[in-house]
Amino acid sequence: MSALRPLHLLLFSLGVLAISAKAHNITEILSGFPQYSSFNSYLSQTKLDDEINSRQTITCLVLDNGAMSALTAKHPLSVIKNVLSLLVLLDYYDPAKLHQISKGTTLTTTLYQTTGHAPGNNGFVNITDLQGGKVGFGSAAPGSKLESSYAKSVKQIPYNISVLQISAPIIAPGILTAPAPSASDFNITALLEKAGCKTFASLLVTSGVIKTYESELEKGLTVFAPNDEAFKDDDVPDLSKLTNADMVALLQYHASAGYSPKGTLKTTKDPIPTLASNGAGKFDLTTTTAGDEVTLHTGVDSSRIAETILDSTPVVIFAVDSVLLPKALFSKSPSPAPAPEPVTGPSPSPATPAPAPVAEAPSPRAASPPAPPMDTPEAAPADAPDSSANSKAENDAVHVSAPALFSLLMIISATVISTVFLF
Ligand SMILES: *[C@@H]1O[C@H](CO)[C@@H](O)[C@H](O)[C@H]1NC(C)=O
Ligand SMILES: *[C@@H]1O[C@H](CO)[C@@H](O)[C@H](O)[C@H]1NC(C)=O
Ligand SMILES: *[C@@H]1O[C@H](CO)[C@@H](O)[C@H](O)[C@H]1NC(C)=O
Ligand SMILES: *[C@@H]1O[C@H](CO)[C@@H](O)[C@H](O)[C@H]1NC(C)=O
Repeated sequence: MSALRPLHLLLFSLGVLAISAKAHNITEILSGFPQYSSFNSYLSQTKLDDEINSRQTITCLVLDNGAMSALTAKHPLSVIKNVLSLLVLLDYYDPAKLHQISKGTTLTTTLYQTTGHAPGNNGFVNITDLQGGKVGFGSAAPGSKLESSYAKSVKQIPYNISVLQISAPIIAPGILTAPAPSASDFNITALLEKAGCKTFASLLVTSGVIKTYESELEKGLTVFAPNDEAFKDDDVPDLSKLTNADMVALLQYHASAGYSPKGTLKTTKDPIPTLASNGAGKFDLTTTTAGDEVTLHTGVDSSRIAETILDSTPVVIFAVDSVLLPKALFSKSPSPAPAPEPVTGPSPSPATPAPAPVAEAPSPRAASPPAPPMDTPEAAPADAPDSSANSKAENDAVHVSAPALFSLLMIISATVISTVFLF
């Protein structure tokens, strides 16, 4: 009988592992509350839902449909995304904790701070325990008022996610008046050239594939642009030997239809179809995540996402460290030869006419902004946000990969079996 005990233990561990691998889903949490349907819909449109789901310790301050309509009626999606990201606190606050803030006031980091677009203290929120049990929320920027207050608790999954309703949006200075991106902000070649991806940009233009990219801009586009160093890598085969059709397929392989910012790539478990995909999975990409780092895998090589060149719903452009070599064109042999047969199926016609939403001059705003000050604001009290805690939380949020889980289970079983034999 006693030999069964370790087995029970094993089954118990299995159960625990299965449960802990499951993350929260903000869309599902809010779907039970019709009064937050607008907020929920905007979280999905802006893909902030994926960003929220990819983090382990988080508080989402939600607005009801009335408060949302005042916001959405007057502002473009880019502004709404910033306002909503200021309502996502990178810490866990349940109603009890709100009323136990040390010294009655604190500044807390938000998702807006992680965008790199928040000047000064604008990415932080001031939470203050006011008299009479009221809790006020405001921008941490100097001179801001506490213009929003805690309304009620919506849902808590202790220490993972807390959802609280507040009365009104938290408005950081300038957040509402930021101009919406104009067509010239989406001049792909100009953006790529500025970001050190000149080789890639010129290949897109000479092959005509730039037109395919441009035709996707309105519906949503995610670009993985290898930087100039990537093309000089010894592992990159001689691309001048590729047929035109293969070159087209290779360049189409570096973009996917739809808007997939980093948070989305972090939560994506399925293969990502690219513009070269033909449904047979031959030109798909897969991703892995470690902390805040996302790596793309082609089946031949892998590439880290090095930098976000542009993230403006529904377009995101990433710089990547390596040329992505699709399996369908490059074998695993050390001297890969281009596929001999002309690619027919996998390379859709590159000559799709662009709807040309692109204007003449690249805007100066298109340049990557300087890195934001990541330091705790000067005025921050001792319990202010601590970046090491945040990055730890991010690391903890990494999914246990199937192979890792499998090896862990093998170790546990081995231990259990040896225990059984010992006794
Ligand atoms: C919180 O998340 C962690 C890691 O994903 C998990 O182990 C834990 O079970 C979760 N807590 C609850 C109450 O769901
Ligand atoms: C989250 O929940 C929504 C609605 O229930 C569902 O459509 C979506 O696929 C879920 N997302 C994940 C990552 O499981
Ligand atoms: C939060 O705002 C209130 C009111 O403006 C202010 O008195 C308080 O010092 C601020 N808290 C912090 C931590 O800066
Ligand atoms: C985009 O920018 C490039 C400069 O990199 C310029 O040559 C091109 O004309 C611009 N395209 C449009 C449509 O403005």
